[in-house]
Amino acid sequence: MSKDVKDITLVSEQQIRQLVDLFYDKVRADPDLSPIFERVIRDEWGPHLQKMYDFWSSVMLTSGRYKGEPVMIHRRIEGLEIGLFDRWLALFGESCAELLDNETAGLFWRKAVRITESLKLAMFYRPDQPWPMGTA
Ligand code: HEM
Repeated sequence: MSKDVKDITLVSEQQIRQLVDLFYDKVRADPDLSPIFERVIRDEWGPHLQKMYDFWSSVMLTSGRYKGEPVMIHRRIEGLEIGLFDRWLALFGESCAELLDNETAGLFWRKAVRITESLKLAMFYRPDQPWPMGTA
């Protein structure tokens, strides 16, 4: 069995929903992240969560359900500083560890790290500035 096929069988739509729900419980309780989400999402949590289920389903199960432009959308979010991505990842990692077995948690975690890095680069990288930001 190829690695890809094996990976897919480890992840289910139900796990994705549980993971997204748990992660957003943590986000909404976080003093740094919650104000940004509360300001942008307001009382539209239902549609946002649905979008995030679709996103993770597309990432983990290549379902193609998510159609959107995350870079553009995040660029428009006021107060989204680069340092907040570490907090975002920490909460995502906690959620994976609490909910999933080690192997499945690792699959989600590695994708999240890669996507976070490319989102950060797309949002903050400047050719004339050192990278990662804040170094030398
Ligand atoms: C500090 C880090 C982050 C913050 C504060 C943040 C905040 C937000 C907010 C407020 C929205 C709603 C935007 C809107 O509806 O106009 C959003 C959407 C979204 N976020 Fe993030 N985000 C962060 C990092 C990430 C990361 C690392 C990922 C992926 C691994 C991600 C994936 C998404 C996706 C897929 C959407 C839906 C975009 C769409 O409407 O198509 N976000 N984020």
